[in-house]
Amino acid sequence: MKNYKEEILRLKKEKNAAILAHYYVRDEIQELADYVGDSYYLSKIGLELDCEIIVFCGVSFMAECAKILSPNKKVLLPNTEAKCSMAKLASQKDVISMKKKHKNAKVVSYVNSLTEVKAVSDACCTSSNAYNVIKNIDANEIIFIPDKHLGNHVQEKFPDKKLILWDGSCDVHDNISAKDILNYKEKFNSKLIVLVHPECKKEVRKLANFIGSTGQIIDYIRKCDSKDFLVITEDGILYELKNRYPNKRFHSLNIICNPMKCITLKDLYNSLLLEKNEIVLEESLRVAANKSLLNMLELAT
Ligand code: 13P
Ligand code: SF4
Repeated sequence: MKNYKEEILRLKKEKNAAILAHYYVRDEIQELADYVGDSYYLSKIGLELDCEIIVFCGVSFMAECAKILSPNKKVLLPNTEAKCSMAKLASQKDVISMKKKHKNAKVVSYVNSLTEVKAVSDACCTSSNAYNVIKNIDANEIIFIPDKHLGNHVQEKFPDKKLILWDGSCDVHDNISAKDILNYKEKFNSKLIVLVHPECKKEVRKLANFIGSTGQIIDYIRKCDSKDFLVITEDGILYELKNRYPNKRFHSLNIICNPMKCITLKDLYNSLLLEKNEIVLEESLRVAANKSLLNMLELAT
């Protein structure tokens, strides 16, 4: 049987490629990756890399962001089935007609969206920088696409701005209820520190000790003296948490995003070997979407 790990490392060197992975992908992929992070970190890191090929182990919108920002690099997505179910909930046509209804509003699209939607947005955001993007964008009325829970979370912090929320959400995070958390705490440990991704609904966020992106959750634990945590986001994050904090204990509700998990070592090997599943974007679309991503980078700081 082929030793995929060795072969991938050999090909990576030979082809001057870098492997980027999101915290939700399989453990063995995170282990092999050169850079592992949340969606914001991964969107920025591609810009800094001096490589010819980026193999993006995450969902398609993430690989597309890498291509939008780094058009001169070849970006590969190891498995074309890796598609975020939330990203497709808003089409470009829908957004254009929403803009017509709210002429004074600016459009902020969560990066978990189609490239076509980014292309008609004023700025993008991720779960870790949505707060800053909304705070810094020059508008009081904002159409926020497509995650209503993240939008609602940010709206609570800015009562003076009006967010017009899209009716979309992530089915993986939306599935979690307050009852799931209360039952778990009652059964195992009532003192667990609860860490919640902002894609969860309000009843879940209300029970959180901390709400943040995957990267922010990882960082929060570093600063927290407690030993036991209940992590309310996709289980792939546990790989990084256990490696980084061997003296802490992590509990989870077995939350799985299948599109993230569909990428295997074999897919990664084949994609790198044959340079297949390349992300190709029409240039005028890329340029328009690039503006929204660059605006995000500016507004996020
Ligand atoms: P992060 O911004 O935390 O990486 O989240 C991306 C995502 O898809 C969450 O479901
Ligand atoms: Fe998309 Fe939800 Fe999976 Fe994140 S967890 S990639 S939002 S389907």
